[in-house]
Amino acid sequence: MPGTVIIGTQWGDEGKGRFTDYLAKESDLVVRFQGGHNAGHTIIVDGQTFALQLVPSGVLYPHVTPIIGNGVVVDPAVLLAEVDMLESKGVDTSRLKLSGNAHLIMPYHQELDRMTERYLGRNKLGTTKRGIGPAYADKALRVGIRVQDLLDPKIFREKLDLALREKNGVLAKVYNRLPLSGDEIAETYLKMLPRLEPMISDTVFLVHEALEADRPVLFEGAQATYLDLDHGTYPFVTSSNPIAGGVCTGAGVGPRAINRIIGVTKAYTTRVGAGPFPTELAEDDPISDLIVERGHEFGTNTGRRRRPGWLDLVMLRHAVRLNTCTEVAITKLDVLAPLENLKLCVAYEGEDGTRYEHVPYHQSVLHKVRPVFETLPGWSGELDRNVERLEDLPTAAQDYVRFVEDYIGVPISFVSVGPAREQCVVMPRAA
Ligand code: GDP
Ligand code: IMO
Ligand code: MG
Repeated sequence: MPGTVIIGTQWGDEGKGRFTDYLAKESDLVVRFQGGHNAGHTIIVDGQTFALQLVPSGVLYPHVTPIIGNGVVVDPAVLLAEVDMLESKGVDTSRLKLSGNAHLIMPYHQELDRMTERYLGRNKLGTTKRGIGPAYADKALRVGIRVQDLLDPKIFREKLDLALREKNGVLAKVYNRLPLSGDEIAETYLKMLPRLEPMISDTVFLVHEALEADRPVLFEGAQATYLDLDHGTYPFVTSSNPIAGGVCTGAGVGPRAINRIIGVTKAYTTRVGAGPFPTELAEDDPISDLIVERGHEFGTNTGRRRRPGWLDLVMLRHAVRLNTCTEVAITKLDVLAPLENLKLCVAYEGEDGTRYEHVPYHQSVLHKVRPVFETLPGWSGELDRNVERLEDLPTAAQDYVRFVEDYIGVPISFVSVGPAREQCVVMPRAA
């Protein structure tokens, strides 16, 4: 069963999209299995930049069937806008498939996302305000509306009215907002059906058909391990399971369908939104601005400045375990080029002096740990972006990569030194 998974090992934006694009070259299907348009995956090909939110990153290859799986939450207007954007750039999207079991993001989900964030005040999570949390909450409450419901306007309207009865009550009575109109929502959503209908498919069947025929299937994670609803830094997480295990529920396959799991990490760390971050750089540390500027660390999706920090190997090793990664890909090594010294977090020290070499499960402990760093020398000079082998990088850069590899215990299979498709070193065993 030739299934490969790409997941983020940090707090998102590791560069999953660019590696999905890279590996899609060898894949027949590329499947999104969780999240929604809170994701922003950037791919640069021949100088053209594509920022994808819902459409799987494999769409750029004509031989790939991109699939939006049942575990994704879909705002259909965003999906169609993305399809239009791709078509306007000359990308054929006619092969795109959308699971009939995927849940729809409705206007009240977005409104509730905004309202709950506002009411949380200084305790807010810093969500993307895309309605992701409320849509997954309705799925769990069993009052969600699915893509397949659009195929029967009568059923769609019944489900919408049922949902609106409660949502409008909450919006009006709790948040002092105007009620939303069922007529308007139904009209807007049903008007999109003619364009959506050709995409709606039994995606679970398509995935199994490919796996059984030994055709390679790539599962593209969005968000990341520490944004996972169960394993991330709760409550500062998203509402889905971005870990590799999420593929099973979100695409409808068993664990035996997966034989390769690639965890993507930046050569440093970033986080958007609130929550603990042990290796975060102080705001007034000049290295913070340097990383943000050189790495263009502003959200693909929301434009927010990402919080930068050193690479946290304690978290990375834990992520390798949680996802049973067979290998790790490192991105953005080029960003660190001007730095004289590079710090890597190899342990934490708790408030009471306890040393942790694993991520403490208790949030209060994690909030207060102090990172224990090893310092490696930098390479003080721009990396050649056309390198093809690790040995072509400066020795200090090779040492940095090898240090990470030794610590986490699985091979590093890719190292990227620039955002473009080809600006990447592929280790011989991954080729
Ligand atoms: P994703 O959400 O994990 O797919 O990552 P994003 O696309 O949100 O963020 C990664 C950003 O880093 C994008 O702007 C990429 O173009 C950029 N990027 C990816 N790999 C590299 C790299 O090796 N070097 C540099 N300088 N930029 C990179
Ligand atoms: P990609 O796929 C980085 C963060 C938000 C917020 C938290 C919850 O591009 O790596 P949500 O809207 O999901 O309820 O927000 O999760 N977040 C991301 N951060 N990259 C992402 O996706 C993210 N998707 C959600 O900033 O802290
Ligand atoms: Mg992103």
